[in-house]
This record gives sequence, structure tokens and C-alpha cells, in this order.
Amino acid sequence: MLKLFSPAKINLFLRVVAKRPDGYHELSSLFQAIDLGDFLHIATHPTDILTCTDSSIPTDGSNLVSKAIALFRRKTGIQNHFKVHLDKHIPAQAGLGGGSGNAATTLWACNQLSGNPATVEQLQAWSSEIGSDIPFFFSSGTAHCQGRGEKVTSLAAPRKRSIWIVKPSFGLSTPEVYSRVRVKPYSQNNKPDLQEILGGHVPYFNDLEIPAFEAAPQLLALKTQLIQSGYEQVLLCGSGSALFCLGSEQAPAISGLSTFHAQFINRDPAHWYSQ
Ligand code: C5P
Repeated sequence: MLKLFSPAKINLFLRVVAKRPDGYHELSSLFQAIDLGDFLHIATHPTDILTCTDSSIPTDGSNLVSKAIALFRRKTGIQNHFKVHLDKHIPAQAGLGGGSGNAATTLWACNQLSGNPATVEQLQAWSSEIGSDIPFFFSSGTAHCQGRGEKVTSLAAPRKRSIWIVKPSFGLSTPEVYSRVRVKPYSQNNKPDLQEILGGHVPYFNDLEIPAFEAAPQLLALKTQLIQSGYEQVLLCGSGSALFCLGSEQAPAISGLSTFHAQFINRDPAHWYSQ
């Protein structure tokens, strides 16, 4: 039985560059892994079995863990099956990449439990077939991602920062937020100064805030409230609905929210992430 940490991610900046003919959006985004995460318990087994601590998460073939196992078998031709138990801590529909991280962690684990038939580069390339955010997790934990998100360039770890993640009780659907994107007002600068941003020089930004706040106006009110309570920056996580807050160690004191303290994390090339 292998126990692996499956981290969440935030986007330190996210620029929507263009709408593509295939319906996806061309991005320029700086992804960062954080130490808020799930745990994946996995072993080879005569059949595939997936269980999860969160009963609201489907454990059928639609779960990205199941898709990752099927992808691993299809690509390698190795007919191993796996028993997986997911210990969930990352909230769903939050823009934190929880499902994507679970898929990447599953591919890493299947490969390890099968004697490492694939390279990390192969796992990364294959993973883009089941989700745009999955390839990022095979990076160092800090990466500039372009294309749909699947063109990943690992970067040096930025200055370590601790953040507060704030998740309202409602979630947001990624396709719905993207469907509200109007590219015109954005795309002013798709190459922000990476070195400045990695050095911790804010401001970060996220072009998905406009469509997410349009879909859920109460999220803009929450961001305003958090800024007024003293955080240097408050930014939407991916397509939402979670926000991350920087610049104060003080826990957000607003009722009705789930809050998580987290730090930036990175991994060295030979090992998976650990908390
Ligand atoms: O690739 P993934 O299945 O995670 O994407 C979910 C949805 O998010 C897509 O169907 C699309 O509506 C939207 N999306 C997008 N542009 C991206 C990534 C995702 O429009 N770069």
C-alpha cells in the first residue's frame, strides 16, 4: 500500500489570452502547488476499487482517479488494477485543482507500483488527455503554464509565502466561468515579469475574476470584505469559488466560510510531493 500526498494549486497570475476554435481558452498562468492536499492510499488489486471519505464525490468512472488508471493501462498496455482510497481535504468546485492533483498523483502511483515503465515526461504528456490542469502537477510545483494549461515550464521555487484559503459554501463550475469570459477586456499583457512575481512582488492577478464575480456577485462582496479586514491581496483561486489571502497571518474572521492555512510547496524531481 502506497500513501501519497496529493496537493492543491493556486494561480499566482492567470491571463486569458484568447478563445480557441476548439472552445478552450489559451492561457498564460503561473501555477503554484500548496500544502493543502488530499491523501491517496493505493495498492494493486484484482479489480479497480475507488472509495472516498467525501460521499458527495462520485467514485465511478467519471472520477479523475478512475480516468487516470484507465489512461495508465491504455498507454502502457500493462493490465494492472488498483484499489484506491481518497482521503479528501481539498474542497470541490473551488478552483484548487483537487481532482487534477488526484489524477496526477494516481498516475505517479500506478507507474511506481508497476515498476516505473513510463518516464515523468510521458505521464505528464498523457495526462493532458484527461484534463488541462493535470500536467502542471508533474512540474517542480511552480510552473508557467500555457496553451490550455498543458504546456508546462517548471520554474525555480518562489519566495515561500503562507496564505489563507477561504471557501464559501457554494462552488463554481469551471465550464460555466469560462463560458462567461469575454477575451477583449483582458489579454493586455500575457507575459508579466515572471522574476518580479516569483520574487514575491505583487500584485498577482486572475482574469477569471470578472466572469466568476458575474456568476456569483457575493464573491466580489466577500473579496472586498477580506481586503477591508487587512489582507495585502485577495485573489480568486483558478475559476473559483475559493479565494486566497496574502499579507496577514491573521485567520479570516468571517462566519460561514471554510478556511485553510497553507504554504507554497515544491518537489524535487525524484520524489512526489509531501506535506
Ligand atoms: O480540461 P478540463 O476538462 O479541466 O476543462 C474543463 C472545462 O474548462 C473545459 O471544458 C472548458 O470549458 C474550460 N477550460 C477552458 N480553457 C482552458 C481550460 C479549461 O475553456 N484553458
